[in-house]
Amino acid sequence: MRVMIISDTHNMLRPEVIEKLSECDVILHAGDISKAEILEEIRKYAPVHVVRGNNDRGEWGMALPLTLEFELEGIRFFMTHKPFDVPSDIGMRGVDIVICGHTHRYDDHEEQGIRFLNPGSCGPRRFTQPITMMEMTIEGGRSEITKVEIPRGPSGSMVEHIPGDMPMIVNRVVRDIKKKKTVPEIAERNGISLELAEKIVRLYLTHPGVDTEGIVKKMGI
Ligand SMILES: [Fe+2]
Repeated sequence: MRVMIISDTHNMLRPEVIEKLSECDVILHAGDISKAEILEEIRKYAPVHVVRGNNDRGEWGMALPLTLEFELEGIRFFMTHKPFDVPSDIGMRGVDIVICGHTHRYDDHEEQGIRFLNPGSCGPRRFTQPITMMEMTIEGGRSEITKVEIPRGPSGSMVEHIPGDMPMIVNRVVRDIKKKKTVPEIAERNGISLELAEKIVRLYLTHPGVDTEGIVKKMGI
């Protein structure tokens, strides 16, 4: 059985993700889908086990469970969006694998005989973090996990970022301007496009005294 584990797609389905989803038997989504249409699209490729993330609002989002326990070919799974919501007695529940999302950080470690997985995010790119998901093969009650890393797009354009992250990005850029970094250096250090770095630098330099909020407003985001 081929299982694709994804999380934090935040309203984005990359072609590389769709390709993987269309080749698997089951999809596990650890939350933060952000829009009902995206979930509908995901459901076209395979049966989906999904939990609600803090960005899954509205009627469709509230209908999703916060935690989910299920079994695939004899392996018992527990899934929830935030690692913080894993119950402290998880070791007593006969669970083999725990899946979380939310952190946007890929993780695969073992604790008290339980394997803890986080596929990272395969949605919009956040700063310099890689875009990742997990592929799991289950055979004869044994699972094998492969990390799937999606190469960054050529752009790193603004749509690649979560709008809520923009104040943080602007803060970092302003800090780098004060350190007298060049635009290409700023783009590289913060995992943003040259175009975005240039735009923030220009707004900062042409509006003396402007603060982060002012720059974000002027960017029209
Ligand atoms: Fe989240």
